[in-house]
Amino acid sequence: MAYDNMEEYIDPSRYDIENQGHPELGLILQAISAIEGPIVDLACGTGRLTLPLAEAGFSMIGIDLHEGMLETARSKALARGLDIEWLQANALNLKLKSRASAFTMVGNSFQHFLTQEQQLNLLRQINHNLAPDGLLIFDLRFPSRAELATSAREDLAYTYKDQYGQQCSVYYESRYDPVTQIQHNTTYRVTKLSNGGKSTDDSRIDLRFTYPQELKLLLAQAGFELQAWYGSWNGVPLGEDYPSIVVVCQRGKNAC
Ligand SMILES: C[S@@+](CC[C@H](N)C(=O)[O-])C[C@H]1O[C@@H](n2cnc3c(N)ncnc32)[C@H](O)[C@@H]1O
Repeated sequence: MAYDNMEEYIDPSRYDIENQGHPELGLILQAISAIEGPIVDLACGTGRLTLPLAEAGFSMIGIDLHEGMLETARSKALARGLDIEWLQANALNLKLKSRASAFTMVGNSFQHFLTQEQQLNLLRQINHNLAPDGLLIFDLRFPSRAELATSAREDLAYTYKDQYGQQCSVYYESRYDPVTQIQHNTTYRVTKLSNGGKSTDDSRIDLRFTYPQELKLLLAQAGFELQAWYGSWNGVPLGEDYPSIVVVCQRGKNAC
């Protein structure tokens, strides 16, 4: 089977252990406070953001391409008694029944779109499915020198306890290609098993980095007006010292 760049999501419960918390929530709740219609959480994964937004009273639609991630999101919503519409769809070919009032796309999902053509197509698809004045809020990692530096497998990144209480050590290896602006990453996980043995598990992911001025141009070409951008979900100014580019933009007046 052709490499689909989805190895990170093979085990959705592992994804949930490795990706906890909701740093996005404060800024997003503030930005969407006046919104009444449905909100699409695009590339929603296991619903890390979709669920708390539904709990806050918003009418949510969660869209993702990965069946396993979406299935996990669906069962978590069911367990919490939340009424959320889940759709398995490709963000590059979006056809909603009616236009949404806002889109969110978090967890750096924008970096899954590996060429400018794909990024532009993605932004246009969102634009076409947004109501007039609708909002798009998303994030990507800032292309700082530290972020793009080559990292070797030997360096331990962090450790955590898996769902069976076993200690897992995580190592990253990454190589950035400055021509394509794609970072090729491998995550190596070494777990000390409770029976005294050891298991290893590797996953690869390619991520595209985008520079702020390039992003501005892409947004304008796709019919968006930039409202604000930040260096993290805490609302700090954009810059090399901060981890993210957090974008709040609005469907432009002249968008079709
Ligand atoms: C890093 S995860 C983020 C998940 C979730 N938003 C979060 O923050 O926890 C990226 C998600 O993007 C989804 N994805 C990647 N390419 C996609 C596409 N073309 N259409 C829809 N979803 C896509 C993956 O399946 C995965 O669930």
